Amino acid sequence: MIDHLAGLRAGPVWRPMPDAVREGFKSRLPAGGQDVAAVYDEFSQTIAPYVTGNTHPRFMGWVHGGGNPVSMLADLLAGAMNANCGGRDHAGIAVERQVIAWAAEMVGMPETTSGVLLTGSSMANFVAVLCAKYRVLGQDGRQNGLSGKKLVAYASTGVHRCVPGALDMAGMGLNALRKIPVDDDYRMDIPALRRAIAADRSSGFTPCLIVGTAGTVDVGAIDDLAAIADIAAHEKIWFHADAAFGALTCLSPALKPRLAGIERADSVAFDFHKWAQVSYDAGCVLVRDAAVQRATFSQPTNYLAAAGGLAGGQPWPCDLGPDLSRGFRALKVWMTISAYGADAFGAIVDKSCAIASHLAKRVAASPGLELAAPAPLNIVCFRVSAFTDLETENLVAALQNDGLFAPSTTVISDRLAIRAAIVNHRTEISDIDALVDEIERRVRGVRVNA
Ligand SMILES: Cc1ncc(COP(=O)(O)O)c(C=O)c1O
Repeated sequence: MIDHLAGLRAGPVWRPMPDAVREGFKSRLPAGGQDVAAVYDEFSQTIAPYVTGNTHPRFMGWVHGGGNPVSMLADLLAGAMNANCGGRDHAGIAVERQVIAWAAEMVGMPETTSGVLLTGSSMANFVAVLCAKYRVLGQDGRQNGLSGKKLVAYASTGVHRCVPGALDMAGMGLNALRKIPVDDDYRMDIPALRRAIAADRSSGFTPCLIVGTAGTVDVGAIDDLAAIADIAAHEKIWFHADAAFGALTCLSPALKPRLAGIERADSVAFDFHKWAQVSYDAGCVLVRDAAVQRATFSQPTNYLAAAGGLAGGQPWPCDLGPDLSRGFRALKVWMTISAYGADAFGAIVDKSCAIASHLAKRVAASPGLELAAPAPLNIVCFRVSAFTDLETENLVAALQNDGLFAPSTTVISDRLAIRAAIVNHRTEISDIDALVDEIERRVRGVRVNA
């Protein structure tokens, strides 16, 4: 695996899994075992070559971190420890608390901040929604549900799909989300937010939560978090920051001011598996009011209740989130941050953003290409000006199928755009130049063949 990481650049970004290989994963339950060397050989032949490819420097799709070798080794150590980090009094819990304290320090939240590691920001946003709901409904809401109360939440139209999903899972319903329009920079229109809250109050709804996005998934826009914090404080509404990848921007002295206000959030969701390059999965939720987080999830359970010995060490992570059995996710985060230091991650954020602005400049300077949206952070959405949506889709699929680059697509102003999110620490300016050169070459080919 160390050789594999060292040789990434020479291989394809991604290759489709051949049907014959895929068929091999439809076998019957094996009654007997086989030599582990044969199993490893099968892994090498049929699994390793066909994974997502997000370790590769030319992977730019969605929002994927590149991983790192220290995290890989931590996974091996964690596997050997096989600790169950749902609770009890052991080092796994102490390491996780250390990681939560570091995360709170990173975003500027107080030392008393509580939190828990989860699979990703989808779950972290869900935990935050449940805490916000608890603050409005209290224990009665846990006992009896919404009881006809019409709770509503606010986020910009750039909100990630997991936020409405969280409202749905929390029983508030998808319609509880008020999508606030954005300005020309794709940031939440703050006067529109104020108007929406006033309209809801006068129609008998209960505003429960405002979600400010720090780095929207489509274009990387950062809402005015300080303005949202002011409104939330004035209106007494829970302020949650979805900073899935953007939170790491706090480690860049140059870019940190753009997130001003995040330190005032009631809760923050973000991932260590994105810009912090920890291997999947490593999401995190931070909650300012530790008592609210505990009250939202804790349940008296006879077989878990004991004060001393291994059963001590309250509060347990199982009382801070939905999971009881939990792996030692914190170890890879702790080892990664310990080995590289926080400044290294600030430098990765700076480098990714510099590469993205280079890409935006190359697109702007290319006669056949156009920017589809501003590129304020690490995400660049652009188009071949003359292309239909189908041609854009085919172009991106061809770049992926040929193993050369893996950007993704999104819809901006009702048209498909090529979307490059620079998250991987291995990506260089030369990779971006190669991407633009390749797209220009293919577009010329289309024109010649037409
Ligand atoms: C802004 C935002 N929120 C939430 C998520 C969901 O995070 P995860 O995929 O870790 O669940 C993402 C994922 O890219 C995101 O960009």
